[in-house]
Amino acid sequence: MEKNEIKKICCIGAGYVGGPTMAVFAKYCPNIQITVADINELRINAWNHKNTSKLPIFEPGLEEIIIRRRNKNLFFTCNVENAISDADMIFISVNTPTKTKGIGAGKASDLKWVEASARQIAKYAKSNTIVVEKSTLPVRTAETIKNILLRSQENDLKIEKKSFSVLSNPEFLSEGQAIKDLENPDRVLIGGDDEKAIRLLTNIYLNWIPAHKIIKTNLWSSELSKLTSNAFLAQRISSINSISAICEETGADINQVKNAVGMDNRIGQQFLKAGPGFGGSCFQKDILNLVYLCEYYKLDDVANYWQGVVDINNWQKSRISKLILDYLFGNVSGKKITILGFAFKANTNDTRQSPSIQICKDLLLEGAEISIYDPKVEKDKIEDDLKFVSYQVETKWSRKDSIEEASKDSDAIVVLTEWEEFYNINWDFIYTIMRKPAWVFDTRSCINYQKANKAGFNVWTLGNAMENNSQF
Ligand code: NAD
Ligand code: UGA
Repeated sequence: MEKNEIKKICCIGAGYVGGPTMAVFAKYCPNIQITVADINELRINAWNHKNTSKLPIFEPGLEEIIIRRRNKNLFFTCNVENAISDADMIFISVNTPTKTKGIGAGKASDLKWVEASARQIAKYAKSNTIVVEKSTLPVRTAETIKNILLRSQENDLKIEKKSFSVLSNPEFLSEGQAIKDLENPDRVLIGGDDEKAIRLLTNIYLNWIPAHKIIKTNLWSSELSKLTSNAFLAQRISSINSISAICEETGADINQVKNAVGMDNRIGQQFLKAGPGFGGSCFQKDILNLVYLCEYYKLDDVANYWQGVVDINNWQKSRISKLILDYLFGNVSGKKITILGFAFKANTNDTRQSPSIQICKDLLLEGAEISIYDPKVEKDKIEDDLKFVSYQVETKWSRKDSIEEASKDSDAIVVLTEWEEFYNINWDFIYTIMRKPAWVFDTRSCINYQKANKAGFNVWTLGNAMENNSQF
């Protein structure tokens, strides 16, 4: 049966990508019925929650779309089989984390969720269904998916086997601005060799994206372009973070250097902001995946080159912990340290690979008591992220509901996420409720350091020598 248009879409995986992406599809394609299916019942219940402020993911603009499209042409379900069997096009948007055991552990992507999805599709989908890789995958995964789709039908006694088309359509959205990115992406990338399938997917995007932004490549270029994009973005952050340390030694100011360098059009200002190291679920995982791929193809020098980006990132986090310890007289045991920001960046409740986790861990291992404030991260999430530390030492941490509460009686404040409310802290007041000498360490260059200094704080800002911060 030949299909001429897509009427029903299924997306396997209702996570940070599947949920927002399908919400935007539903907004711009009111005639397509979209079902997002996930095995995680709690997540699906949250997507279906009557109170839309309880959605499992916080993204500016997402709630409004959910209110308008949910149960009209956008559905969330745990019934993955039904959603698959109904669909003309299936997006695989499941997690692909780094393997934790076996061959390639610590580097290669764990494809067990992708494989499970492919097996379910083989079993339940109609013939001629178009399967779209949305997850970020190692190069040549499409081959594996095709293989599973065809070979797993061998035990099926039916004479006529189902056929499938596989496309790669990686997602470039960035958390905290997912809706903006999905509505107005720099490009949409479609990799594949089945012209008709490519045309059908292109037609969906043409509902809101201009044709010149939709680019087509072969499958392997598409898969590799996604890994490369993330590797390049992360490389810029490691580059500027390495320079931040030189600034601190020499008296240069990282933000002045960033501006001067970024004004070269060939370089540009974006992704040159020094910080505590990149977090998020993907940069580290995707670079390590690239490293693994290079090693697999015996490209060891290339592998070492990209490994360096991850190494500098880890170095940045641990050097921040060390210098906090140094400035607090080499001892934080029995001291209270306030952590402002636990999410890996502002405007998201996601904490995956957040630099805050590593820095809190280092401080907890040194015996500090940690008091955390983040406007969007719930206590359960922090508990989950820090539980591995409690296996090593008895930990003392708490989550507070405000900056003031978190700062009371503390010796130092460490700003780790650039939430807008940290730009205008009332430093005069905060100073009065802290133990003295009171410190503030700003790893995001987001506080008003002159005001903090004037209030009496010792101020350290990333990428600046101490003397730069105390002249006011
Ligand atoms: P996520 O962990 O938030 O969501 C994945 C979901 O898939 C989970 O809810 C999980 O329960 C579900 N799942 C796993 N196996 C399943 C199965 N067999 N059937 C049904 N559901 C299943 O992950 P994410 O952040 O949405 O990322 C998904 C993919 O997109 C990854 O490959 C990631 O690298 C890529 N990506 C992520 C981002 C991002 O900003 N998070 C951006 C671009 C690309
Ligand atoms: C990143 C990419 O930007 C997306 O294009 C990609 O789709 C996504 O990964 C993915 O594949 O998962 P995301 O991780 O959501 O998106 O967020 P970014 O804005 O890229 O930030 C990543 C980390 O780098 C954050 O910890 C952020 O604080 C840090 N960062 C970013 C800096 O330290 N400096 C900068 O200049 C920019």
